Amino acid sequence: MGTGEVRKTVTLLAVSAYFGVLLLGTVGLWISWHRAGLSPDQPIAFPHTIHVSKLNLPCNFCHIFVDRSKHAGAPPVEKCMSCHRTIATEREEIRKLTRHYEEKKPIEWNRVYSLPEHVYFSHKRHVKAGVDCKNCHGQVGAMEKIRRVSSLKMGWCVSCHRARGAPRDCATCHK
Ligand code: HEC
Ligand code: HEC
Ligand code: HEC
Ligand code: HEC
Ligand code: HEC
Repeated sequence: MGTGEVRKTVTLLAVSAYFGVLLLGTVGLWISWHRAGLSPDQPIAFPHTIHVSKLNLPCNFCHIFVDRSKHAGAPPVEKCMSCHRTIATEREEIRKLTRHYEEKKPIEWNRVYSLPEHVYFSHKRHVKAGVDCKNCHGQVGAMEKIRRVSSLKMGWCVSCHRARGAPRDCATCHK
């Protein structure tokens, strides 16, 4: 082999090793999200990508209680149907949606974020204090399928409270 070829072979090896590692990393992440239930399958494959990033719908268009209540809330089927009575009606996922609407059956979305009963949390306080959805839920607009990006452990809450000067006594979160 001439030096040119050696160099080519070495480059080729480096490049394949690089992509090999990337692939392993991706597969590893995928497996760990699924194993930990961080990205559960939903009854209808709802893409935040289209609705948030393409249509620019604000979060509270659907999660209407997020700035007024403890819970953010999931949108009623009627809200979806305001568009999907006419949009993409031939697609499988929209057919499922329409069936729920016609049979007046609410969609039972699987929870992605959920705290144990003994913890007190309220969206309203955080949203009013200007804490962005992204800080806790990541770049939802880039997620075809929602996945959980925060541990929801006590240490996670407390370290942000420390950084932002929010209360840290036990009774704040344990009533
Ligand atoms: C403001 C209008 C609007 C609302 C409200 C809306 N959607 Fe959509 N939705 C769209 C548009 C536009 C598309 C893209 C259709 C296309 O690809 O041509 C879409 C795409 C989808 C798709 C992907 C369809 C596919 O297989 O390609 C699903 C699933 C979906 N919406 C479900 C919902 C659900 C569930 C709700 C209620 C929580 C909802 N949408 C509310 C406008 C809307
Ligand atoms: C068109 C309606 C719509 C809009 C707009 C929308 N969402 Fe959603 N969101 C949904 C639906 C439907 C679900 C339940 C299905 C799922 O988890 O994908 C959901 C689920 C979620 C969840 C997971 C809830 C759980 O189960 O724990 C989070 C977090 C979330 N949305 C955040 C956001 C944020 C942040 C924005 C704005 C950047 C946003 N959403 C905009 C309809 C919407
Ligand atoms: C300080 C962190 C934080 C911020 C900021 C935040 N969330 Fe949440 N979110 C959570 C936690 C924690 C849960 C689980 C709550 C529970 O189980 O009681 C949750 C649950 C949810 C859920 C599903 C359950 C529910 O409460 O209805 C939706 C939808 C949601 N968030 C949307 C949003 C949107 C939209 C924003 C921005 C407007 C936002 N969140 C801002 C931490 C946050
Ligand atoms: C990204 C930062 C951040 C995270 C993560 C966060 N918080 Fe907060 N939290 C704040 C800020 C800032 C305030 C202060 C709001 C204000 O001044 O009204 C606050 C206030 C609160 C309050 C109201 C405090 C009072 O005055 O009574 C409660 C309760 C609370 N958080 C619970 C939680 C819980 C439980 C978690 C974890 C599941 C959590 N927070 C995660 C930033 C955060
Ligand atoms: C900012 C919110 C926040 C504050 C402040 C806070 N906690 Fe927690 N705590 C949580 C959350 C969220 C969980 C549930 C997740 C976990 O187990 O890590 C939890 C869980 C716990 C648990 C575990 C319960 C179980 O079922 O395993 C104990 C014990 C506990 N907290 C005690 C305390 C004590 C003592 C303090 C005061 C020094 C305190 N916490 C302050 C948010 C908070």
